[in-house]
Amino acid sequence: MATSAAPGTQTTPLSTAEIVELSRAHTFFPWAAQGAVDPIAIDHAEGVYLYTPDGQRILDFNAGLMSVNIGHGDRRVIDAVAAQMARLQFVQPAMVTESRARLGKKLAEIMPGDLDKVFLTLGGAEAVENAIKLARHATGKFKILARYRTYHGASMGAMTLTGDPRRWANEPGIVGVVRYPDTHRWGEAESRPAAEALQGLEDVIRYEGAHTIAAIFLEPVVGTNGILIPPDGYIQGVRALCDKYGILMVADEVMSGFGRTGKMFAIDNWGVVPDLMTMAKGLTSSYLPLGAVAMTHRLAEKFETMVYSGGLTYGAHPVSCAAAVATLDIYETDGLVENAANMGKVMRGHHQRMKDKHPSVGAIRNIGLFGCLELVRGRNPYTPLTPFNGNSDEMKAIAKFLRDNGLYTMIANNIIHTNPPLIVNEAQLAEGFELIDRALDISDAAYQG
Ligand SMILES: Cc1ncc(COP(=O)(O)O)c(C=O)c1O
Repeated sequence: MATSAAPGTQTTPLSTAEIVELSRAHTFFPWAAQGAVDPIAIDHAEGVYLYTPDGQRILDFNAGLMSVNIGHGDRRVIDAVAAQMARLQFVQPAMVTESRARLGKKLAEIMPGDLDKVFLTLGGAEAVENAIKLARHATGKFKILARYRTYHGASMGAMTLTGDPRRWANEPGIVGVVRYPDTHRWGEAESRPAAEALQGLEDVIRYEGAHTIAAIFLEPVVGTNGILIPPDGYIQGVRALCDKYGILMVADEVMSGFGRTGKMFAIDNWGVVPDLMTMAKGLTSSYLPLGAVAMTHRLAEKFETMVYSGGLTYGAHPVSCAAAVATLDIYETDGLVENAANMGKVMRGHHQRMKDKHPSVGAIRNIGLFGCLELVRGRNPYTPLTPFNGNSDEMKAIAKFLRDNGLYTMIANNIIHTNPPLIVNEAQLAEGFELIDRALDISDAAYQG
């Protein structure tokens, strides 16, 4: 079936097959052997649904990449972007614009504690790169502590901080990155006790020497490594260790920020204020690329006289800033953070139902609309349905079933992610879990007890 030409292309519409073929022939895909990719062509999207050029409706149960928080196709952002584009497309980032000014003020209002200044970047990875640099400049120290079960981005510094296997092929990375223990071990259903994880961190600080450590990075709630929610007291404990040893605490909120966990930022769940905080994704709801690294007032003051050695041509891009201002307005006017908290309770009910009904659901986790189901071959002993960093025929079959039946979500290792846009309602959650319910018959068949 022919499709309508995309705006601005002014050419004969391409068929679905042509879109896939040309994209595969001439554009490169991330995290994949190019010969193995099998992309879905999308023509347009509305609310929580994606539509293929052939008219198939797909429920977006992952909000793009945990990022289209306000849902697809919101006219208020589209209009704000169009208006900014018509008025001023670009100025170099040493100049300032109304959209940048409004965004800075708004972020200062909603960010935790005395975080009140942002360096505006292109996306999450550049926010992390600049957080590393800011921490090193501000402290005069160079080591950065990061965990294994975490993802911080694909640029060189962010990739080195990333502890998961996506790092391996990119090593060696930057110098000075040291690992500290995770709150959750692979292959266990529950987190370790907070005291144990904190003791591990304090050991590493002692062994490395606090006088050499600039910053400790963490995802307050870990995203792509499986929605790992820290045990109570852990985040406060990291803050206390940072204070005790004079180390900066950096919260990577690129995925967990902007309402995803039922609070504006995930770290707000524990009432902790980091020294630096990275964000992207939900900042513009992904309508345009934009990231930011925020710093406390105290830290920002250091840079009143110290030159910051870093910059980006597209930093504080006026059109992206306009998209962000409109997006932040929508979180407030539509009560999306509250909706995430409320729908998170509904999601928990579905998760529990899946666990009660399907023996292959070994663990369920969610905080707000940040959730996942972890699948197992056995609960006792706890045996994940895939090896570490591996796949299995059952997980592949589940992914295929969901795709064939119109549900898109992230499936990684033995985990089905459940992270819809924050506008999702009860009926749409039920629709998604109805399909997941059927898919879980596949993993149940492999259950060995
Ligand atoms: C926690 C976290 N940090 C950083 C990044 C990198 O962001 P980007 O892909 O915009 O560079 C991601 C991306 O998924 C992320 O989840």
